[in-house]
Amino acid sequence: MKSDRVLASGSQPTRCSPPGKDRTSVRTAADLSWSGPAPGGLHHVELWVPDLARARAEWGWLLGQLGYQPSRDWDGGCSWRLGGTYLVVEQSPALSASRHDRLRPGLNHLAFHAGSRDTVDTLAAAAQGHGWTPLFPGVHPYAGGPDHYAAYLANTDGFEVELVAGETRPGQAVPPSAVRVVRASPGLVWRALDGDSVVGAVRAFLRPDSRWFVAFATCREDSYAPLLARVTEDVGGDLHAIASDADPRALDRFGGLGFTVNRRESHYLIPTDPLVTGLDSSALPDNIVVISAVNADEEEIRLLDDTLRQDVPGTAGWRWDPEDFREETFDSPQFDPATYLIAVDTQSGEYVGLARVWNTPGKPRLGLIGVVRSHRRRGLATSLLARAFGTLHQQGKTEVTAEVDDANAASRSLLLRLGARRKGGFAEVIKQQRAR
Ligand SMILES: CC(C)(COP(=O)(O)OP(=O)(O)OC[C@H]1O[C@@H](n2cnc3c(N)ncnc32)[C@H](O)[C@@H]1OP(=O)(O)O)[C@@H](O)C(=O)NCCC(=O)NCCS
Repeated sequence: MKSDRVLASGSQPTRCSPPGKDRTSVRTAADLSWSGPAPGGLHHVELWVPDLARARAEWGWLLGQLGYQPSRDWDGGCSWRLGGTYLVVEQSPALSASRHDRLRPGLNHLAFHAGSRDTVDTLAAAAQGHGWTPLFPGVHPYAGGPDHYAAYLANTDGFEVELVAGETRPGQAVPPSAVRVVRASPGLVWRALDGDSVVGAVRAFLRPDSRWFVAFATCREDSYAPLLARVTEDVGGDLHAIASDADPRALDRFGGLGFTVNRRESHYLIPTDPLVTGLDSSALPDNIVVISAVNADEEEIRLLDDTLRQDVPGTAGWRWDPEDFREETFDSPQFDPATYLIAVDTQSGEYVGLARVWNTPGKPRLGLIGVVRSHRRRGLATSLLARAFGTLHQQGKTEVTAEVDDANAASRSLLLRLGARRKGGFAEVIKQQRAR
């Protein structure tokens, strides 16, 4: 095993090695009928941590990047799951020390498969903004030996992780692709061609928060990399994309292309029946009235929308172009004046809150619920939702869909207490340009 002492003495550290000897199988005849997870696979790891909030932030970020999903949450701990394995952090009242020492007997580090070499590098760089510090920078990325590409990081509480890049062995290399990429005009669409056949396509678009997103059509496997290379060259800057949970291979594919997870959102279904949600549409904080967007000033709604989005994870920096705002609001076929509501402070005349539910085919969709900072925790968001959901209930619409960032504690709590149920989600992934 790699050790700090070896590094300190200047000699080459050795890589993590598998257990030295094969063990004799102890499976019995009775085990042979077993069809559950293979015995011997890791069931879970539990780490006792001195500060749960910090562990949630630091481990939560890293594990999220590696594809783990939040699993359970309770007063003293929480867990994240990937496939059949989960990792728990717990701040136990029985803790006997306030800091983990990876050089004492016990756990030295946890090692994770982390995708391509590019992904390991990107992840290791980004981790520094989330409480993780690089170890052995002088010998990175070969601190584990010349054949072992990995990044070693330690967090604030002294836990070490190793992020291991997939190995490319002779014979495993991806064959060169016959694909050529052409830009299809008009618009920002690129197609991958093999001979005359279109084998893949990608579209790029610039959002009002100045972030580039790419969306791939279903592509032949060898066309993703050339398409991405071309978009990167033409567009420049960081690229974002969405990896839906509904496509279990999407995250791996983006990982292989050098993307890392930026944040996660969950889809929720929320009941509208006041008897289920407990919402009372008559209650409103003092000095507040609620009006429909059709009776409000368009520019003020737009500016309120911009303000609220600065606090919504994933949309900081958003600035609407006035024409785009009109097109996507009042001109949208999904606009419903009865469920696009603005809260007005009667004393200042300012717009202080907004709830909009789009009349989306299938189920209505909660597009945004937001309250300006000075008016939060007074029940205003609850009142706005009570009105919008009450209207939908009367229209016979029993459920509303919503997407919420997994780190948005206020919004999750607001919706969960109305009976929101999680129904899948997605990861927003990012590929950062190295030049910056
Ligand atoms: C989420 C948001 C709309 C809540 O508005 P609000 O008017 O403060 O909410 P309410 O006063 O009606 O609070 C209702 C419940 O939400 C939860 N909640 C609200 N703010 C919270 C916070 N900061 N932390 C934890 N829970 C919170 C609580 O359960 C609260 O009930 P309680 O006050 O009885 O504990 C507001 O914080 C906001 O605008 N955030 C930025 C925009 C955003 O993220 N919108 C959601 C995008 S989907």
